[in-house]
Amino acid sequence: MSGHGTPIPMSSHKCGPLKGEAHVPGDKSISHRSLIFGAMAVGETVITGLLEGEDVLDTAKAMQAFGAEVNRDEDGTWHVHGVGVGGFAEPDNVIDCGNSGTGVRLIMGAMATTNITATFTGDASLNSRPMARVTDPIALFGATSVGRSGGRLPMTIVGAADPVPVRYTTPMPSAQVKSAVLLAGLNAPGETVVIEKEATRDHTERMLAGFGADITSVDTEEGRVITLKGRPELKPQTIVVPRDPSSAAFPVCAALIVEGSDVLVPNIGLNPTRAGLFETLRDMGADLTYENLREEGGEPVADLRAKFSPNLKGIEVPPARAASMIDEYPVLSVVASFAEGDTVMRGVKELRVKESDRIGAMASGLRLNGVEVEDGDDWWIVKGRGHGNVPGGATCVSHLDHRIAMSFMVMGMATEAPVSVDDGSPIATSFPIFEDLMGGLGADLRRD
Ligand code: S3P
Repeated sequence: MSGHGTPIPMSSHKCGPLKGEAHVPGDKSISHRSLIFGAMAVGETVITGLLEGEDVLDTAKAMQAFGAEVNRDEDGTWHVHGVGVGGFAEPDNVIDCGNSGTGVRLIMGAMATTNITATFTGDASLNSRPMARVTDPIALFGATSVGRSGGRLPMTIVGAADPVPVRYTTPMPSAQVKSAVLLAGLNAPGETVVIEKEATRDHTERMLAGFGADITSVDTEEGRVITLKGRPELKPQTIVVPRDPSSAAFPVCAALIVEGSDVLVPNIGLNPTRAGLFETLRDMGADLTYENLREEGGEPVADLRAKFSPNLKGIEVPPARAASMIDEYPVLSVVASFAEGDTVMRGVKELRVKESDRIGAMASGLRLNGVEVEDGDDWWIVKGRGHGNVPGGATCVSHLDHRIAMSFMVMGMATEAPVSVDDGSPIATSFPIFEDLMGGLGADLRRD
């Protein structure tokens, strides 16, 4: 687990053109869900392309602790022998979800309507994040919970012995909260309904339908209304995890700001609930094209080609797009530093409660490296300096946040002086091959 080991100071030095193909790892959101839904099905789910990052490996261990059999073949194929909806066993010990908000929140939902008790913990980052957003709705099903002040981990959940279904409007745009409620709804009789005012990533809905659940999603005036029939028998699946658009963001953004670059990032899912960054980059004038656009497993997929883009312009990012690019604002703020003019990002309060306060972490690191940033509770503005004019030279704090560490490594590829981070170890949570992959394209990353 990240943050439990020795920090890895890293630096990124100005490099020549980035060239070649970037085969990024499997999607983190879909990887967690493959393991958890597989564990709630009856029979054997087979998964290829699973992201083998620390976050997902922690979820695999958690599923074992709840009684599922989880094995990995030498070739990287994973097998999950599920215990069925309502079949989770009580874990013998504390469940450590490491750095992963997705892992812990989905698992809390999944166990909340089974008559068992489980205690959850994580690293310093996860243990500082709000969990009331999950414990509030699962209480409506009949689950109880005791945690630390502010609804923080470590936390014990006592699952509902006699769950009732729930109708719940999520108070913030969060796929994790939506998913926790839907997973709790699986073992409640009757219909559980989740309403979200702004649509968030819909992997849970699509995948539960694939596992045979009766789930519908309708866009109405009050928002997206998702209805799930409880107590289905989930049927095991064969899952090919697509490559992660959130990981693709790093080589794509790096190519846009490093002179002479031309990088192909093949097989990236462009599910509209995830692809907001790429639209935003194109709005900024990025030379980013979708090649070989096709459909796979009902989802749009393309090979992304990103080329050095010397004339990027700052824009106002449409707030309605925020949910579809929520994890990409840190690296977008790096690209914005190399654009001409202001990039304005509003309606992004959720960034304050990710693996770190991502507005705070990026704003202070960008400022140290010579970029002006203004910020408020739910907005920030990056004052772009234009290509060839970003000083760099400072060490940033990664705050146990993989995306903060990777964003500053991308920044250093094009600043005048190198950019460093105090600790690059969290990168292993989502993108364990980041250094090799970026180095293979021509980046100059060093462990200091
Ligand atoms: C995720 C949802 C998002 C995202 C996270 C993955 C998911 O979190 O930031 O990296 O897989 O459901 P929120 O639900 O907190 O927005």
